[in-house]
Amino acid sequence: MVAYILPIEKPEKYVKIHIRRYNPEFDEGPVIKTYDIPFVSTMTVMQALEYLWDQGEYMAFRSNCREFTCGSCAILINNEPKLACMTLLEDNMVLEPLSIFPVSRDLVVDQNKLIKKYEKLRLWPDYNRKCTEDFQVSQETIKRYENIYSRCVECYCCLESCPSLAVDWDSYAGPMLMVQLGRLDDHPLDELDRVRMTVASGLFNCTTCMKCEEVCPLDLSCPRDVIENFRKKAVERGEGILQGHLNVVKKIEETGKYVSPEGTPFLEEISEKIEPRKAIDTVGFFVGCLADLNFQESAKALVNVLKRNRVTLLIPRDQVCCGSPLIRMGQTKIAEEMVLKNVEIFKKKNAQRIITLCAHCAYTIKKDWPNIYKKKTGKELNMEVMDVSEYLIKAVNIDKKGLKSLEKEVTYHDPCYLNRGLGISGEPRELIKRIPKLKLVEMQKADRCCGGGGEVKDGVPEVAEAIGLTKMELIRNTEVDTVITACPHCVKQLREISSKREDKYEICSLVELLDRSYQGGL
Ligand code: SF4
Ligand code: SF4
Ligand code: FES
Repeated sequence: MVAYILPIEKPEKYVKIHIRRYNPEFDEGPVIKTYDIPFVSTMTVMQALEYLWDQGEYMAFRSNCREFTCGSCAILINNEPKLACMTLLEDNMVLEPLSIFPVSRDLVVDQNKLIKKYEKLRLWPDYNRKCTEDFQVSQETIKRYENIYSRCVECYCCLESCPSLAVDWDSYAGPMLMVQLGRLDDHPLDELDRVRMTVASGLFNCTTCMKCEEVCPLDLSCPRDVIENFRKKAVERGEGILQGHLNVVKKIEETGKYVSPEGTPFLEEISEKIEPRKAIDTVGFFVGCLADLNFQESAKALVNVLKRNRVTLLIPRDQVCCGSPLIRMGQTKIAEEMVLKNVEIFKKKNAQRIITLCAHCAYTIKKDWPNIYKKKTGKELNMEVMDVSEYLIKAVNIDKKGLKSLEKEVTYHDPCYLNRGLGISGEPRELIKRIPKLKLVEMQKADRCCGGGGEVKDGVPEVAEAIGLTKMELIRNTEVDTVITACPHCVKQLREISSKREDKYEICSLVELLDRSYQGGL
């Protein structure tokens, strides 16, 4: 028999891999078996599996191209979906089959339920006319094929990691199939109404959590490049618009805000300029609808914390919604008005740098405002935005001495828009660790979406709730009673889910925790 890989004559060392073995036909249940592998530093996980075959250890796994173009070798590696041929081997890796499909044997899964979705959605160019005439394809379409559709290797990594699909496989097509629907929507021959099909296949179930983007070996961004594009098209055509979304649009059009006030709005109470003695910096504070109207305590905490760190705050009273909910649900036209208004307001205050405590606002200001501003005015937008945790760690030498002990254990939930959207996950943890006697207990999958984003909560609340319940299970496993997070959307979602379950968790924002510590701790 021909060996798969060349003999490893001089291994640098031996490493262990742990593989989930299971043959449903004969075995009572799966077992994890451990193997020793001679290691060289360029070795991939697939080569380790091939080495074992060469030694007569015949576990089942899929492979074809061995150069990350066929997508067939995706498995779970340390609980994350990855291509075995693209992942370098490390000591003590745990290899398991993808969990969304039934196991056929060992690392091979039965993809039948996905094939059924393919057939139902007719995921091929579907046309009856004869192709006798030439057809035109725009440069823009060619670019979309080059940059998005043709790059997808259909590896299922995104399907494995999607929180929405995990709670409802049948109602949502899932990211990879949305990419395929995008391909067909742009296909010059395809005759089916693909926009309508996406709406019927759970277009509004996606929380835009970006997990699919994070795990995609080809770095495709399904939520931005496909989901938001389809949502925009659906809204333009009036196709399948959800009542919950219409309510939000109406509220923003009437009040400039995304939610109704509970108590006195923060912006009505606060002065437009807070100037501490011997100020070291001046920034604009974009408060965001939730902190202005529902979670005023977090906005007040931010003011206290930045005052303590000698930062002058400019807080324009007439600021409106950042546009995030509108953009996520596809209502981009109204969002444009919000963006232009906000830019003008902050420019008038001469605020070059804006601080936020809302991950959705920060992401929208950073990623969406410049494009919208350029489109509407033809000019570049020179406005920097920072999440408050990033600002405190990177721009201000945070006053550590003033932080008093908080003797408790907390866990931290990563907001998707902060973590994957802006790459901020270390700074909030760093701040938590700076509070004396406070112990951070990491939960498993701290980055798992809580269901609070993508306007799913307003549009398809049952899906948002199911995703939230999964998150609460991860929190419950930590056995701590306090959850810290860095976005009011997550605070709102987790509090609502927690109270529905009659759990007694304290769920609060990071700035409130810092403020409490500055105020004297516990
Ligand atoms: S953004 Fe999140 S919810 Fe949406 S398709 Fe990707 S993984 Fe699923
Ligand atoms: S979008 Fe990325 S993760 Fe999803 S199937 Fe395609 S290549 Fe794989
Ligand atoms: S074997 Fe083809 S992508 Fe890994």
